[in-house]
Amino acid sequence: MPGLRTAWRIDRAGSLDRLRRVEEPLPPPAAGEARIAVHAVGLNFADAFACLGLYSATPRGSFVPGLEVAGVVEELGEPLPGHPPVRVGDRVLVLTRFGGYATALNADTRYVVPIPADWSFAEAAAYPVQALTAWYGLVRLGAARAGSVVLVQSAAGGVGLQALAILTRLGARPVAVVGTAAKRDFLLERHALAPACAIVRDGAGDAAALDAALGALAAPGFDLVFDAVLGRGFRPAFRRLAPEGRYVLYGAADFMPRGASRGWLALARRWLARPRLDPLAMISENRALLAFNLIWLWESIDRMPEALDALAALALPPPHVGAIRPFAAAPAALAELKSGHTIGKSVLLVGAAA
Ligand SMILES: NC(=O)c1ccc[n+]([C@@H]2O[C@H](COP(=O)([O-])OP(=O)(O)OC[C@H]3O[C@@H](n4cnc5c(N)ncnc54)[C@H](OP(=O)(O)O)[C@@H]3O)[C@@H](O)[C@H]2O)c1
Repeated sequence: MPGLRTAWRIDRAGSLDRLRRVEEPLPPPAAGEARIAVHAVGLNFADAFACLGLYSATPRGSFVPGLEVAGVVEELGEPLPGHPPVRVGDRVLVLTRFGGYATALNADTRYVVPIPADWSFAEAAAYPVQALTAWYGLVRLGAARAGSVVLVQSAAGGVGLQALAILTRLGARPVAVVGTAAKRDFLLERHALAPACAIVRDGAGDAAALDAALGALAAPGFDLVFDAVLGRGFRPAFRRLAPEGRYVLYGAADFMPRGASRGWLALARRWLARPRLDPLAMISENRALLAFNLIWLWESIDRMPEALDALAALALPPPHVGAIRPFAAAPAALAELKSGHTIGKSVLLVGAAA
């Protein structure tokens, strides 16, 4: 049956101020789709970039942001061969290619995954994007393994905490970099990190702090750097890669404008100051730079089950949800995430769940 839903929609990317709450019809699920009654929406830093039109995959024209939700299957379209079994009433999480900021949506059932029985909807909505990002960057591209010395930028953020959880499971040795002393305190309370291995980013002092962390681990350099800031910390970290070291770059938070819209002048300054590498030096120093965007994995649907299975095999604990906000407060919650001060995941709760 067709239904009505509430969604946060932006008619044209460019400013967070353009997010509007709308009531709109939702058609019945098509073949291979399930209609999901959304209970929780996971927020991602990329949502802010998408609304600003600074995300490469941002849809042209009107769109609903949001890359992941958790909820209950309400209705099913005709089943399609090759799709996993899904039943009405199942508690599920869903990976969406936009469209998640909504009280209900139709999802391709190949992106619908059962929720572990002891996880809440908020925890489930906090999981897929950030855990897949951390797994893909650290394990698939970064080749992290037991004993690897791994520098994690923004380690108290959503992806960052998942990265620490994965590195802990692997028996790797993380060094965490964060933007504030409060985040460092949080990490030292919850993770087995030596004080020298939890660093507050500080521009000028970064190099000395990285050397102190390597000294504490008796390591000659980093086997892996996992960075989505692309700020002033890039060069000192890249220089401290050990031979065979990999720098995995998966974002550019330093390019996030301070205000609600793009601020082209400040962006242009950052663009001109962006780090550049000499590929010839990379050969002689045995160092590599890799980069990725998870949207590619979403589009490569055949690879998704392998990635989800590898993650499930790690049996990570439920993610840390640092901020739970009502669905009606989506713009404020996104602004809060964009500020860079949140710890762990930010989630919107929908309806009775809120
Ligand atoms: N490539 C991909 O497929 C992919 C997928 C998911 C996420 N990402 C990227 O991964 C990063 C983490 O995403 P997330 O959703 O988990 O967010 P998050 O880490 O919870 O929040 C982003 C963090 O970026 C840091 N930051 C650095 N400079 C900033 C600035 N100028 N303004 C605001 N924050 C700044 C802040 O932490 P500190 O100050 O502590 O560093 C902030 O907490 C983001 O850059 C995101 O775009 C990429």
